[in-house]
Amino acid sequence: MAAAAAGGAALVYGVLFLTISSSFASAWNYDGHAITCNLARPLLTATAAAKVDSLLNSEFPHNFSTLCTWGEEFQFLPQYSWSPPLHYVNTPDQACSYDYTRDCLGMFGQPDMCASGAIKNYTQQLITPADTHNKTEAMLFLANILGDIHQPLRAGFSGDEGGDTIRVYWLNTMNGSSTSLFEVWDSVIIHETEERYFNKSTPTFNETLVDILGNMSLVIYSNLSTDDVAAWGPCPGAAVSCPDLYAAESIELACKWAYADVTPSQILLDDYYMSRLPIVEQRLKQAAVRIAATLNRIFDPNYVEAPAPPAPSAPPVTPPVAPVPPAPVSPPDPTVPPSPPVVPVPVTPAPVTPPPPPPVIPVPPVVEAPTTP
Ligand SMILES: *[C@@H]1O[C@H](CO)[C@@H](O)[C@H](O)[C@H]1NC(C)=O
Ligand SMILES: *[C@@H]1O[C@H](CO)[C@@H](O)[C@H](O)[C@H]1NC(C)=O
Ligand SMILES: *[C@@H]1O[C@H](CO)[C@@H](O)[C@H](O)[C@H]1NC(C)=O
Ligand SMILES: *[C@@H]1O[C@H](CO)[C@@H](O)[C@H](O)[C@H]1NC(C)=O
Ligand SMILES: *[C@@H]1O[C@H](CO)[C@@H](O)[C@H](O)[C@H]1NC(C)=O
Ligand SMILES: *[C@@H]1O[C@H](CO)[C@@H](O)[C@H](O)[C@H]1NC(C)=O
Ligand SMILES: *[C@@H]1O[C@H](CO)[C@@H](O)[C@H](O)[C@H]1NC(C)=O
Ligand SMILES: *[C@@H]1O[C@H](CO)[C@@H](O)[C@H](O)[C@H]1NC(C)=O
Repeated sequence: MAAAAAGGAALVYGVLFLTISSSFASAWNYDGHAITCNLARPLLTATAAAKVDSLLNSEFPHNFSTLCTWGEEFQFLPQYSWSPPLHYVNTPDQACSYDYTRDCLGMFGQPDMCASGAIKNYTQQLITPADTHNKTEAMLFLANILGDIHQPLRAGFSGDEGGDTIRVYWLNTMNGSSTSLFEVWDSVIIHETEERYFNKSTPTFNETLVDILGNMSLVIYSNLSTDDVAAWGPCPGAAVSCPDLYAAESIELACKWAYADVTPSQILLDDYYMSRLPIVEQRLKQAAVRIAATLNRIFDPNYVEAPAPPAPSAPPVTPPVAPVPPAPVSPPDPTVPPSPPVVPVPVTPAPVTPPPPPPVIPVPPVVEAPTTP
């Protein structure tokens, strides 16, 4: 079943290649990863950031977004054809829980060949000075897969390949085109947000993806509190990385939010988008905090975890995510690509809060998205 999910990722890339000739390349999956890196960068300590830069320098000088997006772009090159299973885990149908031994298997049932196993693998390579693997590559895999494992459906059921075989119709910007539930969570919700609130596809606006993602990152960053960083960063038992925790969160969210109330061929309406956007935003923020914390633990011997905030008196409320105290952590470093033109002033948080939905015009769900040959 895992093999089919890899095929799903290939489908995503088929769409990319058909649309890449448009005004700017808006690669599926790319955007979420670029945002996590934008958010993660200012959370690195100076020591860790210098080490990350020195490893990137070998081939990708001073391009921090590459840290999170490389794994997306290269996993389909022939020399990495073994790697797609490292970008997800699959759980048994309706399980809604994660078990490393049961669920972390490669295409042919090999143990450890999944996102969680890969995070452990590349963490181990990086913390072992004598390890002879390419450490640039280990870091690039690690940062990318730490992002992936936060996408709820990348921990989805094996029977539907993480939502990839569930066809749905997206009414909003896709005008009723068919897509998969997996793609909705991997990219469509993010793209919808770019179009609605961040000037993407505004006809009179000469947009660049870097500007759009930079602005969106600033808004999300302004809604990231020091308590979030303290709560999400540390690993249980002072481990260097703790991917099983993230995979367990993802499948739980997949059951509660991604699969919930969706049947095959359903038209997903505004209420689905609006109620799921906060979950997507939360996962992008958590991924960023954990990428930064993991790299800090690996690269900065003097790194001290942020003190944990007081435990909540009641069990955490799941949907929608609890309001965040308005104290933002320090603003992003303005010298860091990929958002050079952005001034790091506190951003009014309005754009992410959607206005009341416009009247819904039912669109016949007849347009099929392009598929891979
Ligand atoms: C950063 O790297 C990405 C991925 O390789 C590439 O698409 C982008 O053009 C680079 N940006 C800059 C400013 O070099
Ligand atoms: C560990 O990393 C090496 C080098 O990239 C790779 O060959 C191997 O398949 C990886 N194993 C897992 C479980 O990620
Ligand atoms: C390490 O991996 C990176 C990314 O694939 C590559 O650009 C670089 O040339 C490799 N370094 C060595 C020494 O092989
Ligand atoms: C949406 O689809 C309808 C029916 O196929 C078509 O008439 C309309 O022009 C489309 N609108 C856009 C903005 O593409
Ligand atoms: C959209 O573009 C306008 C015109 O340049 C700009 O004033 C506004 O800040 C942009 N909105 C966002 C959310 O970036
Ligand atoms: C629009 O963007 C392109 C690509 O960045 C640039 O070459 C062009 O000069 C811009 N046009 C205007 C009118 O700003
Ligand atoms: C990004 O935000 C800045 C500051 O608000 C604005 O001037 C610019 O037009 C925005 N860029 C896009 C692509 O919306
Ligand atoms: C801030 O984040 C919370 C949860 O993380 C979310 O519910 C809220 O909508 C966000 N607000 C903005 C303005 O992004």
